[in-house]
Amino acid sequence: MPNYHIQTYGCQMNYSDTERMESYLQALGYKKTSTFKTADLILFNTCSVRQHAEDRVTGHMREIGKIKRKKPNLIVVIAGCMVRKSSSRYSSKRDKLFNAMNELDIALRTEELPRLAGLAREINPKIKIPEIKEESLEDYFCITPTHTSHQSKAQAFIAISNGCDKFCTYCIVPYSRGREKSRDINDILMEANELVENGCKEITLIGQTVNSYGLSKYDKEKQFFKDLKRKYPKKEPFVYLLEELDKLHAKGLQRVRFTSSHPKDMSDQLIKAMAKLKTQMPYLHLPLQSGDNSTLKRMNRTYTTAQYRKIIQKLRKTIPDISISTDIIVGFCGETDKEFKNTCKFFDEMDFEHAYLAQYSKRAGTTAARFIKDDVPEKVKNERWHNLNDILLRKKSKKAHERFLGKTVNVLVENQKGKTCFGRSEHFKIVQFKSGRRLLGQIVTVKITKAKEWILEGELA
Ligand code: SAM
Ligand code: SF4
Ligand code: F3S
Repeated sequence: MPNYHIQTYGCQMNYSDTERMESYLQALGYKKTSTFKTADLILFNTCSVRQHAEDRVTGHMREIGKIKRKKPNLIVVIAGCMVRKSSSRYSSKRDKLFNAMNELDIALRTEELPRLAGLAREINPKIKIPEIKEESLEDYFCITPTHTSHQSKAQAFIAISNGCDKFCTYCIVPYSRGREKSRDINDILMEANELVENGCKEITLIGQTVNSYGLSKYDKEKQFFKDLKRKYPKKEPFVYLLEELDKLHAKGLQRVRFTSSHPKDMSDQLIKAMAKLKTQMPYLHLPLQSGDNSTLKRMNRTYTTAQYRKIIQKLRKTIPDISISTDIIVGFCGETDKEFKNTCKFFDEMDFEHAYLAQYSKRAGTTAARFIKDDVPEKVKNERWHNLNDILLRKKSKKAHERFLGKTVNVLVENQKGKTCFGRSEHFKIVQFKSGRRLLGQIVTVKITKAKEWILEGELA
C-alpha cells in the first residue's frame, strides 16, 4: 500500500481542507505516514498570505530533491493557496510554481481536489491508483473530511464556505481561493449531527468571512438559499445556520464558534443570536486591520473606525462579558507614523483582549501590489509590530486575564501531556492545569489561580 505525507500551513481553513485531502488520498488507497522519507506522495497544503509562509514550503525542496533522486516515483504535490492553476508537470498550461521548483509534480487548487487522481496518472500511468468514481466527488465540499485536526472527537471544524468576494487590496485570498461560495445548509447540518452523535461538543465553523454565509452572488442562485429566503424572508442565512445548530444542544453540542467574520456583515440580527443561543460563546474574533480611516480606505476594508466602534459597542451592550480579538496589519503601503499612532490609539480604545499582528507583505497579483507602493521600510514595519505587540497587546492580554483570577471557568481539554492539561475557556482563553486523570475531550471546571500574559493557570475545582 502506498503512503502519503501531508504538511499543512496557514489558517484553520487549510487544516479543515487537509481533512478532505486525507479522506481523498485514503480513498485512493494511500496510508498516512509521518515522514517525507517513508512517503510515496508528499502533499504540501500551502498558505500564501505572507511571503514568509511561502518560503517555509520552498525551503523543503532541497531535501525533497535528495529523496526524489533515490525514489524517482515519489509524487510531490503543492496544493492550497500558493496554486493558481491545477496542472501536472506534463500539462500544456502549467502553474507558475513549476518554473521555480524542479521537484514539483502536481499543483492543485484546493476546490479541484477531485482532479488529483487524474493528474497523478499523468505523472506516471504505471502508478497503481485504485479507480474511484470521480463524479461522486465533483464538489469538493462533498468529500467527507477525516476530522482529525483535533486530538479528541470532542472538537471539530466544519467548513461552511470557501473563497472571498471582499477583495481587500492587500489580500491574496480572493485570487487563491476564488469567489465566495457557501455550502448547502442541509449538508452542514448533517455533518454536524453526525459529529455530535459521535461525541462532538465544540464545532468551529470555518470560512473567510463566515457571516456573509449564503449572501454571495453565487449563493443567491442556489436553490437551497432561494428556498430559505422564501420561507424566512428576513432571516440571514448565517443566523439561521446558528439557530439550527443550537438545536443540537439537546444532543450534547455545547459550543459553536466561528471564524473569521467581517465587520461589514456583523449585523444586529447576528449579535442578538450570539447573545440568545445556548451554544454561542462570549467570544468574537473581528478583524480590524487598521485603526486609521485613510489606511482602511486604501485597504478597501469598506468600513470606518466609527462604524467598527459602533459594532463593538453593540456587542458589549448585548453580551456584556464578551471577549473580542482582532487582526491588525502594520506597515501597509503609505502608512504614516500618524496613521500607525491612530491604530494604536484605536486598539487601546477597543480594549482588544487578543490580536494577531502581521507586518504587511506584498502579494503579487493583488490590487495593492499593482497600484500602491510598498513604501514602509522593513525596519519600520518591524518596529511598529514590536510597538503594538510589546507595549499594547501584552498589557491588554494580561489585564483581560486578570479579570478571571479567583473565578471558575469551564474548560474543554484539548491537549494533555503527562499530567499537564491545556484547553480553552468559554471566552477562548488558554487555560493550563494539572490532573492525573485522563481528561482529553472533557469539559471541566477550573479555578483560576494565575493570570499570565498569554495563558491562565488554575486547578480543578
Ligand atoms: N477574512 C479575514 C478578514 O476579513 O480579515 C481574514 C483572512 S486572512 C487570510 C488572515 C489575516 O492575514 C488577515 O486578517 C490579515 O491580517 C492577514 N493578511 C492578509 N494579507 C496580508 C498581507 N498581504 N500581509 C500581511 N498580512 C496579511
Ligand atoms: Fe482577505 Fe479581505 Fe477576504 Fe479577509 S475579507 S479573506 S482579508 S480579501
Ligand atoms: Fe493562508 Fe490561504 Fe488561510 S492564504 S491564511 S491558508 S486562506
